[in-house]
Amino acid sequence: MSKNSLEHLAIIMDGNGRWAKNRGKNRTAGHKKGAEVVRDITTFCSNHSTIKTLTLYAFSTENWKRPKLEVEFLMKLLDNWLKNELDSYQKNNIKFQAIGDITKFSAKLQERILETQKKTKNNMGLTQVLALNYGSRTEIVDAVNRSINQGKTIITEDDISDNLDTPYSDLDLLIRTSGEKRVSNYLLWQLSYSEFYFTNTHWPDFTTKELKIIIEDFKNRNRRFGGV
Ligand code: IPE
Ligand code: IPE
Ligand code: MG
Repeated sequence: MSKNSLEHLAIIMDGNGRWAKNRGKNRTAGHKKGAEVVRDITTFCSNHSTIKTLTLYAFSTENWKRPKLEVEFLMKLLDNWLKNELDSYQKNNIKFQAIGDITKFSAKLQERILETQKKTKNNMGLTQVLALNYGSRTEIVDAVNRSINQGKTIITEDDISDNLDTPYSDLDLLIRTSGEKRVSNYLLWQLSYSEFYFTNTHWPDFTTKELKIIIEDFKNRNRRFGGV
């Protein structure tokens, strides 16, 4: 019998640029291949018996520091990707949800994001959360401010958890690809007791086969939550 049930999985999809560079290609080629991997992994998770939420880091509040052309490419890729994904969301009963400050995106892209959320909001299978212009410190500060606006004078952990943008405040497993061992301002509140898995695989090479191995490893971990 395995010990743990995986309900909320989050992934820092890293290494697109290095994957492309290793092949003598432009960084954008890595993002393009990476988007295909998002589809495979999402489909796998939507067919998995226990995973309810998949939270993917697609663009951080710090990623604006990248060259303008790369940022523009990522925005265009996202727009096209959401357009093409709608059928697959409906077919697989997936609810799409964005977290992060999307008001910094073009009007067209904001509209695409909101429309995709609206069209999939009644789907009851997997929730796929895309972190878009997301930063965890901002998310926490926003949750505190929302609590204050609700009239709270003393703010509790539940107030913050309830006011986060993410639909579930507890995270079971965080995976980061490409060998970097850092959190990069992702889900700081949610990962208090989550398990971590770092793999050297660059995101464009990540497969459902590797994900299965990681999930087996997770299931056999001894999560103590401070107990014995
Ligand atoms: C992750 O891959 C994708 C995004 C951050 C959008 P990177 O683009 O960070 O790839 P590396 O880390 O430079 O290889
Ligand atoms: C984190 O990756 C953000 C995403 C995967 C979207 P980065 O590549 O931006 O993170 P750092 O700069 O290596 O910490
Ligand atoms: Mg990176």
